[in-house]
Amino acid sequence: MKNDIDKILFTTTEIEEKIKTLAQKINEDYADKELLVVTLLRSAFMFVSDLSRHLTINPYLDFIVVTRYGYGDMLGKEPKILKDLDVPVNDKHILIIENIVDNGKTLFYIKEGLKIRKPLSIKTCTLFNKPKKREVEIEPDYNGFVVPDQFVVGYGLDYKQKYRNLPYLATLKKEIITPLV
Ligand code: IMP
Ligand code: MG
Repeated sequence: MKNDIDKILFTTTEIEEKIKTLAQKINEDYADKELLVVTLLRSAFMFVSDLSRHLTINPYLDFIVVTRYGYGDMLGKEPKILKDLDVPVNDKHILIIENIVDNGKTLFYIKEGLKIRKPLSIKTCTLFNKPKKREVEIEPDYNGFVVPDQFVVGYGLDYKQKYRNLPYLATLKKEIITPLV
């Protein structure tokens, strides 16, 4: 698998440090609040696993499984929810956890969908951000790293459902990526 990697963009240590900083901010901002952390699966599984270890505020944790049918080949199609939340949200503050925001449609769609259920407040947090790729207006409230406009894998992000387990963020060698038809 290592042979497939072109370049490591963010190392395990850099990611760990960034996550501690994000957790500290979230701990301060939600110190006296009932927080529901809503994680978008699958890509944010590793991020929330590491982030939640540093949360001292005793939040609720729930998950939404969302799919876009692969990456890049269904532009314009709405993301689809395969598993919804199990708890009511109208008495809670929501923080949506995403791993990467690219064109922004996934986060936008989920945020607007949860807003209708009238939570006390709703904010968003992403570890990786590609601001140049945005097609809808959404800026996460908590941001980890700005990522160049390149396809990346690792730390939860996949190419054809592989490489999610890599403990760092990397690009793949050109010959590994088959062009979309
Ligand atoms: P958006 O709706 O375009 O913002 O895309 C967000 C989702 O697309 C993420 O949750 C990822 O699953 C996927 N994604 C976006 N960029 C990348 C990438 O560079 N590598 C792997 N998956 C990505
Ligand atoms: Mg994907």
